[in-house]
Amino acid sequence: MPGTILVAYVSPKGSTAGIAEAIGDELRLAGYRVDVTELKEVSSLESYQAVIIGGPFYMGKIVGDVKKFVGRFRDALGTLPVAAFAVGVAPVNATPADIEKAREIFHSTLDPVKPVAEALFAGKIDREKLSFVQKWMVEKVKAPIGDFRDWDAIAAWARELPGKFGM
Ligand SMILES: Cc1cc2nc3c(=O)[nH]c(=O)nc-3n(C[C@H](O)[C@H](O)[C@H](O)COP(=O)(O)O)c2cc1C
Repeated sequence: MPGTILVAYVSPKGSTAGIAEAIGDELRLAGYRVDVTELKEVSSLESYQAVIIGGPFYMGKIVGDVKKFVGRFRDALGTLPVAAFAVGVAPVNATPADIEKAREIFHSTLDPVKPVAEALFAGKIDREKLSFVQKWMVEKVKAPIGDFRDWDAIAAWARELPGKFGM
């Protein structure tokens, strides 16, 4: 009987939550038990055999809950297989240098956790959900507006995880 996998995410505007749910659905289809939960709701990792952590970029950084989660569960995360994904609009039209920079920030956010698998996924910007200041920010950096989530790429990544977790 396969063990339970945790997909823990932070998602200020909801699009990372959609990616976390899609990963959970794909793993359930493969026969695994999966909990999909917000990072800040997680109180223990005891019942999990593997952990997937996800969070979006805002203003050049990954939302702080990811670093807090890594700090809170540093010891347990050192003994479990971990996969991680970051979400941003940067993967849309990104240059190799942009991707490299995003990866560096991603790694330093996760440090000292070394994921067995990682991904940068394109996300979604919904103008309706932005504050006045956020609208101004996305206009200033000419961020692309729309839903760029690639559900096939997300499902394909999820399908590879149990093998990488050794499950
Ligand atoms: C104010 C604002 C700032 C953002 N800054 C970045 C950024 O620095 N880099 C990036 O790749 N994406 C950035 N994004 C895009 C978000 O990462 C993307 O919209 C993501 O899907 C949001 O996830 P959420 O819906 O779970 O909150 C920004 C979006 C907003 C609204």
